[in-house]
Amino acid sequence: VEKIGRGKSWYGKKVLISAGPTQEAIDPVRYISNHSSGKMGISLAEAFYLQGADVTLITGPMALKPAFSGIHCVPVVSAKEMEEACLREFPNSDWTIMAAAVADYRPVTVASEKIKKKESNLDILVEKTTDILACLGTQKRSHQKLIGFALETENEETNALDKLQRKNLDAIVLNSLKQPGAGFGLDTNQVQVFHASGERHTCSLKSKEAIAQELVDLFQQWE
Ligand code: CTP
Ligand code: CA
Repeated sequence: VEKIGRGKSWYGKKVLISAGPTQEAIDPVRYISNHSSGKMGISLAEAFYLQGADVTLITGPMALKPAFSGIHCVPVVSAKEMEEACLREFPNSDWTIMAAAVADYRPVTVASEKIKKKESNLDILVEKTTDILACLGTQKRSHQKLIGFALETENEETNALDKLQRKNLDAIVLNSLKQPGAGFGLDTNQVQVFHASGERHTCSLKSKEAIAQELVDLFQQWE
């Protein structure tokens, strides 16, 4: 049933996508995370799959699941696990799209027992996680394409262009929380795409599925 309606424009292409948040444990019952629903990454995985691509989707903890069992899912929890999965899958992929909201920090130590409350404040010392996308950028070979996302609340364009360059990306998709209809948990989004060549593309407000389709068609032009 799933084969019906699959296009051929990405046939034979291996696409790696990461989606969703990561969770960084504090103790057995608590973690640090963020509001990512994973919806944009899943929509991208589905759109690529429907155009015939061979899709691997690395997912942080989230309620949503892709609609097609033909999408190869790799569930992970922490940034460290996402890093390991990405590094393992990356060499086999033609296109890699890092849509996951990877935690930037994790607790230095994870308490083995539930932390009991006290009268005093609680300090949780956190350390930086690996920037997975930047790491993939250093490993990228000439036939590979690498796309990042940027989530910004200020100086959007400057920050996105800085990430594009610093992480050695082919393009970056700017998610601005300032745009109406864009943001966590919503079914709609509007994004801007900056290509390393200087080319720009704006996807106006529409469903995340429609944005994903537009992005997949745009990426096709850069194949
Ligand atoms: N990213 C990653 N590994 C991290 C953090 C981010 O791979 N540890 C990736 C995200 O998946 C995204 C891109 O880097 O594709 C940009 O993420 P973003 O949070 O916007 O930027 P950061 O580089 O983390 O910088 P900051 O959060 O300070 O804006
Ligand atoms: Ca970040």
